[in-house]
Amino acid sequence: MQNTPSAVVTQTIVQHKGAVLWFTGLSGAGKSTVSERLYAILNELGCPHVELLDGDVVRTNLSKGLGFSKEDRDTNIRRIGFVGELLARHGVIVMTAAISPYREVREELKERIPNFIEIFVDAPLEECIRRDVKGLYQKALSGEIPQFTGVSDPYEPPLDPALTLHTRDESVEESANQVLQYLFDNGYLSRANA
Ligand code: ADX
Repeated sequence: MQNTPSAVVTQTIVQHKGAVLWFTGLSGAGKSTVSERLYAILNELGCPHVELLDGDVVRTNLSKGLGFSKEDRDTNIRRIGFVGELLARHGVIVMTAAISPYREVREELKERIPNFIEIFVDAPLEECIRRDVKGLYQKALSGEIPQFTGVSDPYEPPLDPALTLHTRDESVEESANQVLQYLFDNGYLSRANA
């Protein structure tokens, strides 16, 4: 290959194959925060094809109108999985950040989607309540919001996640770097000039 400027650039960027990084955990556990940080890191590293499907964002468009019954949540999760799978098939590293409280539908996606990486964002409920970033736990505890995950609705933790992030005890940077390391260790990322 000629040593053109573009060839020089491709020597330094990080190559990757498509994957779906499925962040699951309670509201306020840190799914969005960690995935947003990882998104920024991957951009800094020069990964050209990275996408983030955040639960709150998805619910304002793709899943607008869905509620929080088990049926609606499962529909929401299947939609996110559907889009994630399409993107990953084209080499995109997709991060999803939805509570996805039900194990069965997560397992369904895990079986169907190649390179599905389940990441448990594990913060104790008391810590999420203490943070109460959106002020929703207070409303859930007072009964103002019904069917709130962890308070009045179930959360089924993964039994065998690829990774568990303990976000009470780790910094955002540490959690994001753990995922990054996993991607390098498992061949999803590699330095083109390494
Ligand atoms: S999921 O269960 O279908 O995966 P999703 O991640 O899309 O949930 O949306 C969760 C977000 O919706 C929470 O972070 C919170 O901001 C908001 N929310 C509103 N009502 C509820 C509820 N009853 N349970 C959980 N989250 C709720």
